[in-house]
Amino acid sequence: MNHDDFERLIHVGRGTPAGNLFRRYWIPALLSSEVTETDGAPVRVRLLGEDLIAFRETSGKVGLVEAYCPHRRAPMFYARNEECGLRCVYHGWKFDTDGKCVDLPTEPATSKMRDHIKIGAYPTVERGGIVWTYMGPADKQPPAPDYEWTRAPETHRHVSKTHQANNYLQALEGGLDTAHVSYLHNNNMGNKNNLFTRDGAPRIDVHETDYGYYYVATRNSDETNDFVRLYHYFMPFQQTRPNITATGLYGRNSIPRYDGHIWVPIDDQQTYVYNWMAGYNADSRLDDEFVEYTEAGYGRGPDDMIPGTFKLKANMENDYFIDRQKQKTQSFTGINGVNTQDVALQEGMGAIVDRSQENLGSSDRAILTLRNLLLAATKAVEKGEDPRGIDPTKYRDARPHDGFVPKGKPWQDSFKDAMNTKW
Ligand code: FES
Ligand SMILES: [Fe+2]
Repeated sequence: MNHDDFERLIHVGRGTPAGNLFRRYWIPALLSSEVTETDGAPVRVRLLGEDLIAFRETSGKVGLVEAYCPHRRAPMFYARNEECGLRCVYHGWKFDTDGKCVDLPTEPATSKMRDHIKIGAYPTVERGGIVWTYMGPADKQPPAPDYEWTRAPETHRHVSKTHQANNYLQALEGGLDTAHVSYLHNNNMGNKNNLFTRDGAPRIDVHETDYGYYYVATRNSDETNDFVRLYHYFMPFQQTRPNITATGLYGRNSIPRYDGHIWVPIDDQQTYVYNWMAGYNADSRLDDEFVEYTEAGYGRGPDDMIPGTFKLKANMENDYFIDRQKQKTQSFTGINGVNTQDVALQEGMGAIVDRSQENLGSSDRAILTLRNLLLAATKAVEKGEDPRGIDPTKYRDARPHDGFVPKGKPWQDSFKDAMNTKW
């Protein structure tokens, strides 16, 4: 890929190649838990470089409108959320969740002006504890998102959110890079039973699909078995990975589950990471204690955040609280929190990494495929075609898996039943 190709992928604003591509998918706008109260306080949202306001109106529906009033551009953040709409507090103009002007009190009752006034508004749906939105052309709107994990009951899933001060792509690339788990996330260097550090050079096979790809990472485990891990990449920026055989590796109690991240561009230089997990099956209830413990282990629990934000207390200003003594004796990084480790490395590359200076190896195969698929999708959109991955029927049953596979035997035989949809 050359400089121009990367330029196509990095910018996310309206009218850019990747910006146009991402506007063809349902993407996360905010957590449902940020707008719990009907007629409650409006919430600021910045998404793909656009400033928006979210609010839950009287019926429970979530509205997502432009951040500035179409009258004289007053900020809608200060608006009153009342009786099925958002009322600007400058002159009282009121809009519903479709963006329609439903009251225009500064004009005479006979005025037809109201019929022509609209505020920009995007449709929303709630799935899996996330408010998703579609920001593209109305006639191209795909069916609502339907990832398997979003169908797990509330007791069996959890989602949180973390701010990162860098471009989405380098964070997404980190998520599709299993090789770094053997190094960056080695939190107990004395542990000889760690399935990831026993073999730090996984073989990687990438298989393209209608939704993106899945990839299989094979590590030597012992003389007779390999440890095999299957990930999915859902276009445009979601990954899921299994935590079934290797649960408890980071000292967590072991509820078999699968996890994922969605790296949503706030703008070119900032990303919100949605961190979700879902129980492996009906027996894998994610109780509060487990969720609290696990989120803290990842470094993204409530105590890890600057209050009132999704920003980590451990950040580049304080070198993520790196402990050099601990780095010598105990953990590979000396940084606490598995995801804090990811953030430290990805933010530390600079807001937009200079890819002209990279040297990729065989363990980077999944990253190369990711870039090629995204690039091809931007071109498909330009030609008026549908991009890969907008059809939920193609991905709705895809789930990851991991386990031991006898050497020389196909992983498909061992994984067959486990990969059938459970939700
Ligand atoms: S600026 Fe909003 S009603 Fe006037
Ligand atoms: Fe990581």
